[in-house]
Amino acid sequence: MSVFNRNTGEGTQCPATNVAACQRLEPSFFAGFPRISRSFAVIERHLSDMMTEMQKLLEQELKMSKETTSSSSPNWTMLTLADEYPFPTYDELRKSRGQVVWDPGMNCWLVLSYDVCKLIESDESSYRLFGADAPPVVFEVKPGRPAASALFGEEHARMRRLYLKLLSPALMPQYRVEHVLPVINHAVDRFAKRGSAELVAELADEVPNRVMLSLFGLPWKDDTLMENVSQWHKDLAAWFGMKYQGEELNRKARIAGDGLNKLFMPLVLERKEKRGSDFISQIWSRAHEDWGEVEVDDVIAIVRDLELGAGETTTNAIANAVYMFLTEPSIREAVMNDQQGALNAFVEESLRLLGSVQWRFRKANQDVTLAGAAIKKDDALCLLHAAANRDPEHYACPHMIDLNRKPPTDHEAFNVGPRICLGMHLARLMIRECLKALIARHPNLRLDPSKEAPRFRAFSHRSFAPLHVIF
Ligand code: HEM
Repeated sequence: MSVFNRNTGEGTQCPATNVAACQRLEPSFFAGFPRISRSFAVIERHLSDMMTEMQKLLEQELKMSKETTSSSSPNWTMLTLADEYPFPTYDELRKSRGQVVWDPGMNCWLVLSYDVCKLIESDESSYRLFGADAPPVVFEVKPGRPAASALFGEEHARMRRLYLKLLSPALMPQYRVEHVLPVINHAVDRFAKRGSAELVAELADEVPNRVMLSLFGLPWKDDTLMENVSQWHKDLAAWFGMKYQGEELNRKARIAGDGLNKLFMPLVLERKEKRGSDFISQIWSRAHEDWGEVEVDDVIAIVRDLELGAGETTTNAIANAVYMFLTEPSIREAVMNDQQGALNAFVEESLRLLGSVQWRFRKANQDVTLAGAAIKKDDALCLLHAAANRDPEHYACPHMIDLNRKPPTDHEAFNVGPRICLGMHLARLMIRECLKALIARHPNLRLDPSKEAPRFRAFSHRSFAPLHVIF
């Protein structure tokens, strides 16, 4: 099933074979070029007055802005896409400059190709994690020993085995009943009688953070605790999404790191002696099977890895799935009628098309040529999953929601290779159950046309927001 997206202008009623039809530039093309778009609007207003002098000036401005903001210019930077809908620009970039493009503003190569992202993520001996030579501030924000996201080789594989004991698919039915459903029902109960809600703040942001608090055995109904954790996650995500740069981002990251350590330290110490069924107790009890004896610092590092991995990422993914559900009537109908196959496929398509984590960084360990681009040793590479997941060389009709893609999970939203997301089964569970709860409890849910319309806002971690709904 393929559909035309009225909100983004993407896609067409395209038969599966008509690949060219969905690769055309969409009406929202100029959304990626705000200055040019504004210039056109200005030109249009003034043309009617036939003021030749003004027209000349505006044409000059248009020429200048084209030189600096057009993605075909070597001076163009992805920084201009913050808060803008980026996908038409990725297509244009690919067409005009190729699959691997230098970005002077981001000071790194943008990798737009599905295959090249996969190649880099699968080969950790040739491409290292950005954090491998992280600046000292990273160790201030997260002191102690490294956890999975900062380990390599055999050590990394052993640590992953421990994480998988906490996050394996077999545990999901139990987590669904004990942690996910209570949290979702609690969130929906709070707005159910009101007839309206803002679903980013009242559902998407609530669920992952409270589910993790619940899994750690913390008082997940505590609103102050929940607000603090949510803010710390946002600050940390923004900080590493910009390669740990920027004074203000660093300051906020330090505060967030400090807050999380203070929250978890007493708990980690307590559970060392007094075990329960929560994540922290399980880490104490099971780490030795794969990792050997663990110290307090190890447990804190693992807890922080899990906590951070789950928060902002899943919040954005839930918001994006809900947005797509609300804005695609035929898809919505298919999902409501089949809350198994169609719903699962829909969740994967929402992750592929809108993602949540838009990119991950790596560095090259040696000179290499990638898709024609000459990469130097130690150059930074921005693996642009958001673009790779719509790569026309990999996907037919890449901009369309297609509930019949095979296999539905072959996108890169969770990474591929040895560092594929450890929490992906839990993330999928939370997204799925949020949609099911909305379908069951508010079948006539719709966007509120009298309120601010959703935009694909933010930068490295993105979602459509706000989601004002009525029911
Ligand atoms: C939709 C939600 C999520 C998305 C889009 C996502 C995405 C990702 C991505 C792209 C990576 C790879 C990072 C890299 O290689 O640089 C990753 C790793 C990781 N994720 Fe997730 N994640 C999500 C949810 C979760 C959840 C719910 C958890 C934990 C409960 C989690 C825990 C982790 C951990 C621990 C890693 C490190 C894996 C390793 O280095 O081996 N994630 N995730």
